[in-house]
Amino acid sequence: MPVRVALIVGSLREGAYSRAIGLEMRAIAAPELELELIEIGDLPLYNPDLETDAPPAPWVRFREEVETTQAVLFVTPEYNRSIPGALKNALDVGSRPYGHSIWQGKPAAIVSVSPGAIGAFGANHHLRQPLVFLNMPVMQQPEAYIGNVADLLDDDGKLKTDGTRDFLKSFTDAFAAWIDKTKA
Ligand SMILES: Cc1cc2nc3c(=O)[nH]c(=O)nc-3n(C[C@H](O)[C@H](O)[C@H](O)COP(=O)(O)O)c2cc1C
Repeated sequence: MPVRVALIVGSLREGAYSRAIGLEMRAIAAPELELELIEIGDLPLYNPDLETDAPPAPWVRFREEVETTQAVLFVTPEYNRSIPGALKNALDVGSRPYGHSIWQGKPAAIVSVSPGAIGAFGANHHLRQPLVFLNMPVMQQPEAYIGNVADLLDDDGKLKTDGTRDFLKSFTDAFAAWIDKTKA
């Protein structure tokens, strides 16, 4: 049975490089991983006042979808040397109600993506901070900072070179081993 992995993309932009990288990873992932793209763009900003018997439908949808998965792959751009607000909001939505976090114990991996040279290092490492608190064992190695991403994808959002494809494939292989080692 393949392991179902939530694929969460930090960008809401149509044509996002990070989404393209995530979808390419879904296509080349180790056969033991089944990556499921879970959308975060429609989630209302987290507000505890909305945490009633009838919370916003997108929160319910999101929580249910992540609940069906056993691990999470985050592919994110960097906004102002941190993670995009939409991604932080998704983490917050999933973390509540208190005691019912959908993230609890799920192994995670992070791929950061940027057209710049630094490969969104700041976002990659800022994301690690809430994941510690959310008790998600995050894969340490290999790290993935995908810089100069505009040069790596063609107009259809497909990887241009075997080098990048091989690296991302090896990353998913390592993640499959990490999930096997750390899953609850
Ligand atoms: C609000 C904002 C802040 C940004 N800050 C950074 C940054 O700190 N580092 C960086 O490498 N790129 C930054 N960028 C540029 C993004 O890397 C670029 O827009 C990229 O295409 C976004 O990823 P996406 O294609 O997956 O949407 C920023 C873009 C926006 C809109």
